[in-house]
Amino acid sequence: MKVTKAVFPVAGLGTRFLPATKASPKEMLTVVDKPLIQYAVEEAIEAGIKDLIFVTSTHKRAIEDHFDKNFELEYNLEQKNKLEMLEMVQNILPPDVNCAYVRQKEALGLGHAVLCAKPLVGNEPFAVLLADDLISNSDSGALSQMMKQYYYQKCGVIAVQEVPKKDTGSYGIVKTRADKSIEAIVEKPAPEKAPSTQAVVGRYILTPEIFSLLEQVGKGAGGEIQLTDAIARLIDSQRLIAYPFQGKRYDCGDKLGFLIANFELACKDKALGQSFAEYVSKAMSKQSQSN
Ligand code: UTP
Repeated sequence: MKVTKAVFPVAGLGTRFLPATKASPKEMLTVVDKPLIQYAVEEAIEAGIKDLIFVTSTHKRAIEDHFDKNFELEYNLEQKNKLEMLEMVQNILPPDVNCAYVRQKEALGLGHAVLCAKPLVGNEPFAVLLADDLISNSDSGALSQMMKQYYYQKCGVIAVQEVPKKDTGSYGIVKTRADKSIEAIVEKPAPEKAPSTQAVVGRYILTPEIFSLLEQVGKGAGGEIQLTDAIARLIDSQRLIAYPFQGKRYDCGDKLGFLIANFELACKDKALGQSFAEYVSKAMSKQSQSN
C-alpha cells in the first residue's frame, strides 16, 4: 500500500532550549533561514507525501501559521514588487499537499503523540518525522531512501545510525539480524546494557498495527509512552528493518547539535557560505592568537 501520510510530532516541551521555547515551538527554531519543521516537511514532500499531519500542543500556533496563507504579507510583497520573496512564501507547500492538525493535550511522550494521529492516519502505513533530527543530503532525502526500502522489502522501516557506545543512553538502540530485520529494540539503554551501537534516528515508516500496541504499552523510560516500546512489540508479529540512511544527521534538539547544523549549513549556503566561512576562519585564528 502506498505511503502518502506523514506524522510530525511537534508537541514536546523543548526544555533543552528554554527560554527560547517558552512561548514558541522548538520546531520553529531556524537553521540559517528556514525553521526546522520546514526542512522535515520538504524531506517528506520529496518522498511523495501528500498529507502532513502535525501533532501539536498549546504554543504551537506558529507552526500552523507558517504553513498557512499570509494575505497581508503577500499583498505587501506584491505592492513592493518583491516578487522573488512573494514566490518563496507562496510556495512553501505545493498545491497538492494538505495539512491537518491534531492536539496532544499533555506531553505524555513521543508514542502518545503518534497515537494522537490515529484518527487522521486510519488503517494505512505512514511515515513519522521528528523535525529536530535535521538530515542534510545532497542526493535523495533520508525518507525517500527509506520509501525505496519500504516498497522493495514490503515492511516497516526505521532509520538508524552508528553512535559512540557512551551515547546509547540517549537513543533507542536496535539489534539486527543479517538481513537488517530488527531482532530487538530498547529505549535509552545504558552502554553496558545496549544490544548494539545502532541508534534510531527520527524517521520511521510504520504500519497501522502500531496504534493498538501504543494503546497497550504503559509508561516507559522517563515516565513517557515510548514509540520504541510499541515497536518492540510490533516486531513480534511483523518484519521491520533498520535502515542506515545516507546523509548527515544533526541533533537539533540539543544546543550543540543545533549550533553545528547552523554552522555547517551556513558554510554550504550559496549566498552566505563564502563570506561566513571567511569570517569564521578569521575569528578562529584571532582567538587562537589571543590564547
Ligand atoms: P524530545 O525527546 O526531543 O522532547 O522529543 P522535547 O520535549 O521535544 O524536548 P526536550 O527533551 O524537553 O528538550 C522528540 C520529538 O517528539 C515530540 C517532540 O516535539 C520532538 O519532535 N514529542 C515529544 C511530542 O510531540 N510529544 C511528547 O509528549 C513528547
